[in-house]
Amino acid sequence: MALDGPASSGKSSVGAAVAERLGLRFLDTGLIYRSLTALALKAGIASDDQPGLIALIPRFELREDGAGRLTRVVLDGTDATHEVRTHEVDANVSAVARQPDVRAALLDYQRRLAESGAMLMAGRDIGTVVLPHADLKVYLDASVEERAMRRIRERGLDPSGEEAEAVREQLRARDAVDRGRTVAPLRAAEDAMVVSTDGMDFDQVVTLISSLVVAAEAAKPKAEATGMNAAEPRPGEDEAAQAAPVAGAAARAQGTSRSNSRPVAAAPAKREKRSHILDVAMRLDNGQTMLVRMVARLSQWAARALATVQIEGLERVPRTGAVILALNHASNLDAIVGGAWVSDALRTRRIHWLGKRELFAWPIFGWICAHGGVHPVDRSTADVEAYRLATKILERGYVLLVFPEGTRSPTGALQEAKDGLAQLALRTGAQVLPIGINGSDLVWPKGRKLPRPFPRRRIVVRIGEPFLVSDVVPPSTDRRAAKAVATTAIMGRIAELLEPRQRGVYASAVRVPEPDEATSAVV
Ligand code: DC
Repeated sequence: MALDGPASSGKSSVGAAVAERLGLRFLDTGLIYRSLTALALKAGIASDDQPGLIALIPRFELREDGAGRLTRVVLDGTDATHEVRTHEVDANVSAVARQPDVRAALLDYQRRLAESGAMLMAGRDIGTVVLPHADLKVYLDASVEERAMRRIRERGLDPSGEEAEAVREQLRARDAVDRGRTVAPLRAAEDAMVVSTDGMDFDQVVTLISSLVVAAEAAKPKAEATGMNAAEPRPGEDEAAQAAPVAGAAARAQGTSRSNSRPVAAAPAKREKRSHILDVAMRLDNGQTMLVRMVARLSQWAARALATVQIEGLERVPRTGAVILALNHASNLDAIVGGAWVSDALRTRRIHWLGKRELFAWPIFGWICAHGGVHPVDRSTADVEAYRLATKILERGYVLLVFPEGTRSPTGALQEAKDGLAQLALRTGAQVLPIGINGSDLVWPKGRKLPRPFPRRRIVVRIGEPFLVSDVVPPSTDRRAAKAVATTAIMGRIAELLEPRQRGVYASAVRVPEPDEATSAVV
């Protein structure tokens, strides 16, 4: 993973903290150029003597600090961690880092380090040159004024004094050298997420970058098959294509899957699609009817017949405003146990679901869907329709149930979530209510036709605190990064409500090891 950015943007300290938090290895590549510069100064080798500099490479070594971070510098066999940060090294390192043959000779060294296990690598050219295929590229930026102020505060200088002005001037000069050099100049890679940290404190930046790393890690298996940013719409593509899990999951929640459905007719004309959504939106009904109550009762009864069900935190279900119920998905039972008691807690408001249109053709079940808060989505255009309809539901201040993973997990543990949900939450400002369903996969695992009521097991539904994704996304975060941060936050909060076995790829996004106290009831 690549973390680039200008001098004093906080790469090293942020990178080290993120690596510690997530148990990654960390390398600040600036140390490499500093090591060579310190050696060259000692040996009297000029900064443009490329063969001389290259001959020094075997004489430095970076060692781990005990937490997997390569922060200790060893020159000629002795610890020189502090010697590479002197003013003399500061003054000469840019000239050394400018030498093309030296940079080329160091490439292999850096790449080998990155290959030997998950690593966060900080520098200037990591995303552009050293690791062009990195799973994640972040470009950490901040204005000269902001970066200078951090240094000025660190050193306790008067912000309006001469020394402070010198700090600003020095930063401008270093930026110019780093950006202006012909070989591996400082710039954000095309596919990097640019994070501007102006106005953010250290912890906020660490949390933000950690979220991006977790999101990239979660996407890894898929990335290997389809390319890292496969989930991101390409320019010109409708962003609604991101909402696949909204429609797909709702359809699956009704006990169906894409693979066993009938072939779908060609997509209708655009105008027709629009009118369909509008048509549905016009008829959106938000009250709990007799039928809705009855279905909830039946679901509770069915769930209790199959397992002991324990619900925690029902008092956290918001009584007003737009709400997205975000549930993990490990079993066909999730819609039943996740919806039935929450539906009661909502009192007069009903839960809205999105389901594929074919469901409505089923006898009885189709009628129940049509009158019970399930909205038909044409699967030939499911993603676009689902997104628009979901937006409409939330804009009206209603409650929408979503499985962010889009499909049941084959292992019962959280799998990567698509970012359609985060986008929906960011756009509509709806509250997100994280819900963790524990143990449903043991009663009715994916791949089995029928549930297993014996031996009798316990399903624990934990309801977390509702929150706004805008509260976890720092201002002025770029769109792609914002979605990744919001997705990780939502999934991290679901993971917190799950036993460790089920936290899966979001285990490291958990903020506290155990879910906090909540009222609980075995029902
Ligand atoms: O991040 P820093 O200040 O420790 O970096 C020291 C110097 O090394 C700085 O002049 C930029 C240069 N550098 C580089 O050219 N490429 C890197 N990947 C890392 C640092």
